[in-house]
Amino acid sequence: MCGIVGYVGAKPVVKILLDGLSKLEYRGYDSAGLAVNSDGKIKIFKAEGKLQNLKDIMEKNPVSNTTMGIGHIRWATHGAPTTVNAHPHSCNCGKLVVVHNGIIENFKELREELEGYGCVFKTETDTETVAHLIAHEYGKLNSLPKAVRAAVKQLKGAYALCVMHQDEPNVLVGTRKNAPLIVALGEGENYLASDCPAIIEYTKRVIYLDDDEVAVLTPDTVLITDIDGKQVVKKEEILPWEPVAISKMGYKHFMLKEIHEQPDVIRNALAGKLHDVNSPVKLDEVKLTAEQIKNLKRIEIIACGTSLHAAMIAKYIIEAFCNIPVDVEASSEYIYRKTVTDKNTLVIGISQSGETSDTITAIRQAKAVGSHVLIITNRPDSIMAREADSLIPVNAGIEVSVAATKSFNAQLIALYLFAIYIAEIKDSFDKIHIKNLKQEMLELPAKVEIILSHKENIMKCAKTFSSFRNFIYIARGINYAAALEGALKLKEISYINATGYPAGELKHGPIAMLDETMPVLAILMPGVVYDKVLSNAEESKARNARLIALTSSEDKELENLFEYILKVPTVDEYLSPVLTSVPLQLLAYYIAEFLGKDVDQPRNLAKSVTVE
Ligand code: G6P
Repeated sequence: MCGIVGYVGAKPVVKILLDGLSKLEYRGYDSAGLAVNSDGKIKIFKAEGKLQNLKDIMEKNPVSNTTMGIGHIRWATHGAPTTVNAHPHSCNCGKLVVVHNGIIENFKELREELEGYGCVFKTETDTETVAHLIAHEYGKLNSLPKAVRAAVKQLKGAYALCVMHQDEPNVLVGTRKNAPLIVALGEGENYLASDCPAIIEYTKRVIYLDDDEVAVLTPDTVLITDIDGKQVVKKEEILPWEPVAISKMGYKHFMLKEIHEQPDVIRNALAGKLHDVNSPVKLDEVKLTAEQIKNLKRIEIIACGTSLHAAMIAKYIIEAFCNIPVDVEASSEYIYRKTVTDKNTLVIGISQSGETSDTITAIRQAKAVGSHVLIITNRPDSIMAREADSLIPVNAGIEVSVAATKSFNAQLIALYLFAIYIAEIKDSFDKIHIKNLKQEMLELPAKVEIILSHKENIMKCAKTFSSFRNFIYIARGINYAAALEGALKLKEISYINATGYPAGELKHGPIAMLDETMPVLAILMPGVVYDKVLSNAEESKARNARLIALTSSEDKELENLFEYILKVPTVDEYLSPVLTSVPLQLLAYYIAEFLGKDVDQPRNLAKSVTVE
């Protein structure tokens, strides 16, 4: 979380920083700030709350003769999201300024030491320690790059830092460890940023920094060294996106646009891997040999948030198709217990961003004990992708809305392809069924289009239920995780307390909460658990709960039981979460819209969680 932009060059610095920060708002949005070198002096501007507040301040305070600047958008970790705690932070004399993404774990010890040298702290943040520390080293070394290198050797934790000093008006220094930072190259100008959207409007030429590398930028040069100052030769890469990929394209919110992109996202995810039902799934990205695949004894999938729900669905299909036991675990749990992962276990990390801190730590732990690590991510340029043994990029395009939608379905498609790929190698699942599944996968984009072109009923349902404060989503089997994901969407963007339950568990406790104030949404897809979920819905009705069904069933009787019936096209039960997820995304979206919530940037959340 937190977004950083740095710029050195002749363009209007404030505009570049503010534009860049607005593209990074998905990383945090509780306060923002920037510092510029203007008329030879460092000037700092900060604002609490949304970036717009900083933009308003800059409107009223034009700056002149700028040579460079650094900007920051914050998701608070240490210290409340106040103006004073907003970045940039500076040293005693105010000549050195720093923006930071991450957490400095040893900041208290460093702070005590620096106070001993006379440093006066003005904020509660860990970042201010870094400003004083670099300034302290600057006093000894009289060179910003050298001071940064000396200072970061003393830091413990995670950081991406961008630093400038008044006395070096054309030198911008950036460094990182366990937090993302890229260098972007222009003509007579250069940039630093947490992520590509911040700079894509200006340049597509980037260099990805690795941990413990220090980049020294002037308008015309970029020098990258290791932490000891030894030059590192880096590869320049060209970003594959157009700036239009991060525009709303006429939709009111990014979330709504991204929900509507799903038919194309599914087509993209299938492209080149499945084109006809008679050929095996092609997954060149999986680097395991057929022999290794046949010998796989276990698969562990680790992920967070929405990606964790995709993992739960994957467990269901991999076990069914491939006959391999699958464990699914939240990365944050995986990393703090003894795991029996070994070299005969395949570890799959799923992550939209590829930079979620807990998942990175988890895959590193798995690699350390010799497991092959397969990463499924939307960001082939991310830290996780770079560390993967095998990589399946899901190609959903940049997802801006904090609540994940299209990336979830893209992940599911990648996981279906993976399960079928393994099943074909192992010959572990009925061939006719596989052929039918492939045919149905190719039809999924058209079926999602049908859902998207009939939204009126979902909108009506959203309006009816938008005033409720609680919700229960029930399902069984493969759609249980879809229920969890639907409930998560509602919680994230409308702040309604929505809980997903396996329908059979309702009577073991949650049923006590049911009355007319607790609506129950039942995912009722024809298949092995249809009748069971229907009975559980009847039990809810008997406790006066108001009921919504999400189903492909044509059974007219359902109208007697359910107040709303949200329809999806008929589909093989194994593939049904791809369809059931879409009305649940839309339901959450419209409820949040009716409530006037900030759909794309819900309170307290951030899209990339780069801290533990
Ligand atoms: C954050 C986001 C979620 C996301 C989760 C995992 O909490 O708000 O939408 O599902 O991180 O992110 P990842 O990028 O690893 O999928």
